[in-house]
Amino acid sequence: MKKIARAHTNIALIKYWGKQNAALRLPLMSSLSMTLDAFYTDTYLEPSQQEQFYLNGQLIEGPEAQRVFNYLHLLQRRYGKSGNLSVHSQNHVPTAAGLASSSSAFAALAAAFAEYYQLPVNETELSRMARLGSGSASRSVFGGFAVWQKGTDDQSSFAYSLDSNPDLDLQLLAVEINTGAKKRSSTKGMQAAQTSPFFAPWIKRNSLELSQMINAIKNHDFTRIGQLAELNASEMHAVNLTAQPGFTYFEPTTIGVIQLVHEMRQNGIEVYYTIDAGPNVKLLCQLKNVKIVKEKLVSAFDHVKIINASFGPGIQYLDNYELD
Ligand code: DP6
Repeated sequence: MKKIARAHTNIALIKYWGKQNAALRLPLMSSLSMTLDAFYTDTYLEPSQQEQFYLNGQLIEGPEAQRVFNYLHLLQRRYGKSGNLSVHSQNHVPTAAGLASSSSAFAALAAAFAEYYQLPVNETELSRMARLGSGSASRSVFGGFAVWQKGTDDQSSFAYSLDSNPDLDLQLLAVEINTGAKKRSSTKGMQAAQTSPFFAPWIKRNSLELSQMINAIKNHDFTRIGQLAELNASEMHAVNLTAQPGFTYFEPTTIGVIQLVHEMRQNGIEVYYTIDAGPNVKLLCQLKNVKIVKEKLVSAFDHVKIINASFGPGIQYLDNYELD
């Protein structure tokens, strides 16, 4: 019996924001992420007369489905396979709202493809496969902390596990400001970002901050991890603002949450932010501060939804064929 593939989303603490090769999704920089327990995608494939993509029980058509089928065709060519497939996915992530749903979606799809064809692939190859669907998905193959080494070609660009089960008190609070689809995809955003005069310095900074982050993780240094994650995310968004023409994923509430983070730190509550290609903010803090940080958020922004997450696992295969 075929198994369901489950992949968790990840949040980059050192971001991927620029490609050296769009077709192969080779990045211009290495990146580092934390896999999250609270958000995941379950996927399985079936043979079918017609190609179909079901997401949360609904038939999806249009560009979103096309991206999935193009990806499956690419993998079929890569492994010499053929035949029409239908894809069944259950997303436990708000789609396209900057919660990196493409990371769990394409990691689960890569794993479901490997399971369907019973491919003898190891985690490194699974990471390469996931990368071809969405760059950040390469890191969701692994739990805990993962590093995606940029590489120079298909073979050398994959993620590896830095620490699959970190002994570290690191909590993530996902602050959902807007769960609608983002206005500009990551692919388009990072392409536009390359017109910023700060793009070259950004690439340099990223490589320095990656090695500093690896050290901070090895030293279990929460403060340094938080500082570096916030700095790196702010640099990425500064590059967007300074692109020609400039753009931003921020909404007024995004800025409001950033200001609240600054304020909380001034008042001795240690919390940091990171933000991806969307308006939602993810806060990093320790367990002892989760309650107070949530209270502050709720009293400042009564419409926000907050989801608490910590370290999640890598790819899993589940026996139960029914998606819940
Ligand atoms: C800001 O992996 O979604 O979340 O490779 O074009 O599909 P594509 O991009 P994607 O970009 C993620 C960008 C980011 C930072 C990160 O996750 O490293």
